[in-house]
Amino acid sequence: MLDLLVSNARLHDGSLVDIAVAGSRISEVAPRIEAAAGKTIDAAGQLVCAPFVDPHFHMDSTLTAGLPRYNTSGTLLEGIALWDELKPSLTAEAVKARALELCRWSIARGTLAVRSHVDVSDPRLLAVEVLLEVREEMRPWLDLQLVAFPQNGYLRHPGAPQNLARALDLGVDVIGGIPHFERSEPQGRESVRLLCELAAERGLAVDMHCDESDDPWSRHVEELALQTQRLGLQGRVTGSHLTSMHSMDNYYVTKLIALMHEAQLHVVANPLINITLQGRHDTYPKRRGMTRVKELMAAGINVAMGQDCIMDPWYSLGSHDMLDVAHMGLHVGHLTGRDEMLAAFDAVTKNAAAVMQLSEYGIETGKPADFVVLQCADPIEALRLRPARLYVVRRGRIIAETAPVLSRVILGSAQHEVTFKSVEP
Ligand code: FE2
Repeated sequence: MLDLLVSNARLHDGSLVDIAVAGSRISEVAPRIEAAAGKTIDAAGQLVCAPFVDPHFHMDSTLTAGLPRYNTSGTLLEGIALWDELKPSLTAEAVKARALELCRWSIARGTLAVRSHVDVSDPRLLAVEVLLEVREEMRPWLDLQLVAFPQNGYLRHPGAPQNLARALDLGVDVIGGIPHFERSEPQGRESVRLLCELAAERGLAVDMHCDESDDPWSRHVEELALQTQRLGLQGRVTGSHLTSMHSMDNYYVTKLIALMHEAQLHVVANPLINITLQGRHDTYPKRRGMTRVKELMAAGINVAMGQDCIMDPWYSLGSHDMLDVAHMGLHVGHLTGRDEMLAAFDAVTKNAAAVMQLSEYGIETGKPADFVVLQCADPIEALRLRPARLYVVRRGRIIAETAPVLSRVILGSAQHEVTFKSVEP
């Protein structure tokens, strides 16, 4: 007997299938499966997709908005200054409680894999220790990957190399960086080289906050591509943010994108955060600041989109709904063609899974039974409606449920059920 059978599931490609689950894995995906099951879900032709993946998040600062005060200028630099004010008063208990609550939000939204940067500037490594605990406690339900992030600079902040090495020794998964925040451009390049060499030495992946700036001369991604190539790290290195690319000279970008492609860099854009943080020093027109998602995708580079922040010194909104992220990215990046909208959906699912190097991702026979049933017909409708995640399934078990949303409109004696779907004339 099967443990779970999901019938009438609409997959990403539009096909209608049944999904059989035995134990924690998918045992069959076929047009029709006749078998008894301990539990059945009739998806009724609605979209069933692999879990949402957030490839860029900050779990150590999440849910702290307003502590000790709000970011009034809305800039990245005030956010960093505010975080520095808050850091000394952080307690392990509070960081952990907020991180666990955030994980529950993620699960409710069907986001079952998260790559979180964790600040290693604090010599106590308090957040590192807490998030390592959270990673282990949440492992049955959510894949949490941690990046050792020298928020105050790798060369600029005293003790940063030692703190970062200690974080890796404790079990942090990925090496981070912030070259545009170093004291000078050469120091930024030097930090990229040193951190990539450390990754080569330790056999780890790299994911840097890179060129999160409106300055078109912030070109550390060029060094990141070069060092990736030189050290044989292709496919293991991610450039996050890359907002300066928005402002760069078009001719230079044609050379740069080719170098990034050659180095097999992954790119993570964070549209919710960068549409609010960037362009703050502009009068009019105000730059959008998101990296060149459309051109990078067209060049064959793996581009994902991340949430980055939820209710923290940099951003006061968010609920860890990756459809919000893709929805914003689609608008900011002019990804309005149907194929482009599908690519925006992929940016928060399979492309993000590729950034995190999740080898068992996807709805296929033999893979872990991880998927989400949504109250919508297809990925484009998912982006349009950001609908209820009816069921979130992890390793064959339902770990979150949301009741279908139905609006009833009462117009005089007539009542209409509204589902925000088109009608046949
Ligand atoms: Fe970030």
